[in-house]
Amino acid sequence: MKFDPWNAEFIAYPYDAYRDLRDNEPVSFFEPTGQWLIARHADVNALLRDRRLGRSYLHVATHEAFGREPEPEFQEPFWRVIRAGMLDVEPPVHTRLRRLVSKAFTPRMVESLRPRVRKIATELTEGLVERGGGDLLAEVAEPLPVTVIAEMLGVPEADRHLLRPWSADICGMYELNPSLEVQHTAVRAATEFAGYLRELARARRERPGDDMISALAQVVDDGDRLTEDELIGTCVLLLNAGHEATVNATGSGWWALFRNPGELERLRADPGLMPTAVEELLRYDTPAQMFERWVLEDIEVGGVTIPRGVEIALLFGSANRDPEVFADPDRLDLGRADNPHISFGAGIHFCLGAPLARVEMAESFGALLRLAPRLELAEEPTWKPSYIMRGLESLKVTV
Ligand code: HEM
Repeated sequence: MKFDPWNAEFIAYPYDAYRDLRDNEPVSFFEPTGQWLIARHADVNALLRDRRLGRSYLHVATHEAFGREPEPEFQEPFWRVIRAGMLDVEPPVHTRLRRLVSKAFTPRMVESLRPRVRKIATELTEGLVERGGGDLLAEVAEPLPVTVIAEMLGVPEADRHLLRPWSADICGMYELNPSLEVQHTAVRAATEFAGYLRELARARRERPGDDMISALAQVVDDGDRLTEDELIGTCVLLLNAGHEATVNATGSGWWALFRNPGELERLRADPGLMPTAVEELLRYDTPAQMFERWVLEDIEVGGVTIPRGVEIALLFGSANRDPEVFADPDRLDLGRADNPHISFGAGIHFCLGAPLARVEMAESFGALLRLAPRLELAEEPTWKPSYIMRGLESLKVTV
């Protein structure tokens, strides 16, 4: 099986194809998307930190000057929201936006949220246990990070059910060569989401609460600190990034444990393994398999020259199984001590929410181990058809 991000079999098990790429063609041109695929850990890691690449090129050139078609006009409302968030801008705008919210996500701040995260994880798990089992993904993995990030931002409880569908629809645009229907759905979701947050932020500006939207609404000005568009873009990004990958990481993580019962038993017997277990599960089945970068100046990678103006695809899932870096990379080892996985990225866009994701995963795995000691798989799960944001459709369990 070759690299084929639209093929269900490849999505279910991309690791043989990755091995092939790493061994034979670590830097290869992928015709269907016109991108260069980068498969080795050393290259992915170095390129993430290389300032000759960017998440965007619009800070240095127009679409035309960069030899690219502008996006079709119907997508304008989508990009207006997305390009106002820190993930899709480069310094100095990136630095300004990231600084405004980074204090809320430091390890210390996040540690103070742990009791609240634990309480939510416990309640959700108790519900699953009372029902005798169910879909671990829908009943625990999803509502936990959605509730946490919604509470941090101050999205009222009655509206939280809107977040997951909006986020999923927006993420559709990030898959490779999305269909026209997926693109329209993403534009609609971004427009609705932005409209909703605009109203909420205006209300909070009038009557602030003790939440992040209120705090950000107070600093909206003519652009020195935060424009209204940037406020919306930041909140959309935090609400989406704040749960999408965590949901998938939790589902894939449990699926990996069920396939490795010896390791699951090891974790049950020694909950002190949790910190290394979380890192290993993030490495073993990386929730975001690939991230893209634009080449802003000609670069050379592994002896191959890649010219300005093209896009490269960094294969995180492959980097995380590179035997040059990880001993016996296809083995799940919850005690793995030396684990420089790349699942949270690297460089200036390194995941802002990594400390929060770690707390959420440790607490939800912990609650399920504690309260559902006989947790078992009820049926073999299937993978969603998306490759970049890779995750299970559902995970049916009995307790
Ligand atoms: C297991 C869960 C998570 C994974 C695997 C993950 C992964 C990543 C990765 C790989 C990036 C960098 C993308 C790139 O360089 O192109 C990123 C960025 C980001 N993540 Fe996460 N993430 C997770 C959870 C979270 C959570 C809980 C939040 C909460 C707010 C969050 C917020 C962000 C933000 C705001 C950025 C953009 C940072 C920037 O551009 O400076 N993530 N994430």
